[in-house]
Amino acid sequence: MIIAQLTDMHIRPRGLPAYRVVETNTLVERALRTVAALRPAPEALIMSGDLTDCGLAEEYDILSELIRRHCTMPVYLVPGNHDRREVMKARLGHLTGIAGAGDFIQYAIEDHPVRLIMLDSVVPGFGHGELCDRRLDFLDRALSAAPAKPAIVVLHHPPVVCGIEHMDHINLRTAAAFGAVIARHPQVERVLCGHHHRPITARFAGTIVQVAPSTAHQVSLDLAAAAPSTFTLEPPAFLLHRWAAETGVVSHGVFVEAYPGPYPFVLDPSYPGAMHD
Ligand SMILES: [Fe+2]
Repeated sequence: MIIAQLTDMHIRPRGLPAYRVVETNTLVERALRTVAALRPAPEALIMSGDLTDCGLAEEYDILSELIRRHCTMPVYLVPGNHDRREVMKARLGHLTGIAGAGDFIQYAIEDHPVRLIMLDSVVPGFGHGELCDRRLDFLDRALSAAPAKPAIVVLHHPPVVCGIEHMDHINLRTAAAFGAVIARHPQVERVLCGHHHRPITARFAGTIVQVAPSTAHQVSLDLAAAAPSTFTLEPPAFLLHRWAAETGVVSHGVFVEAYPGPYPFVLDPSYPGAMHD
C-alpha cells in the first residue's frame, strides 16, 4: 500500500499570499498534481494539519475544491494549530471522519492493510499541541481494537525535540503521556506529523516519528540557541509511505518540482574512466 502525506499547506483566500510572500494555493495545487501523476497511484492521501492559514471558510472551500479536482483516492485530514475545528467541520464535513460527533476531529480508518489513527492535537488559540486524557483514551482504545494489524498514527504536532528552538516551544506538550500509550502498542509503524515544515525523523516510544516537509514554505534550518523564527522558500516536498507485510513502512521524500531526467545509468565503452574486465 502507498500513502501520500502532504502537510502544512496554509491555504489562503484567493489573491492573498501567506505572510504576504508565499503563494500557498498554487503550491498545494502543484503538489496535488504531482501526487495525481504518481504511478503506482497512492491508495490514500493524508494531510497532517495547517490545511489553511487562518481557518477561514473561504480557505476550506478552496481546499475542498482542490481535493475534488485532483484526488481520486480517499483523503484523510487532521487539524493543525492554524485550523479551526468548527469551520473545518462546517466546510469539509463531507470528507471522511471530519463531521463526526464529539469535540475533536479524530477517527480511525479501517479500510486499508494499514490502519490509520487520525488524532486532533489542537489547543484552540495556541501554537503548541496537547493530547488530553480523552484524546489519549481514544488512541489507546483504537490501537487496542486490532493489536495484530499494523497502524500509522497521524497528528499535527511532533512529540519530539528537534533542536529548532522556537518550534520546540510549540511542539506536543503531552509527549510523555502520548509516548506511554504508543509504547504499549508495538504495531505502530510510524507517528506522522507536520508543524515543523521540515523533513525530520526521530526515535519515539519504540516507533519512529516522521515529520513531513511543507508543500509551501519551510522553517529555516537553524539549530543555534535562540535562533529567530523565520522561513525560507526551499523546495516544496511531501512524503510517500510504502507499506508491505515483508518490509513494514518505508518512507520516501518527494520534491514537487519537475527536474530534468530520468537518464539511464549506462556506461558505454567510451565512458571516461570506466572499468572493463
Ligand atoms: Fe504550519
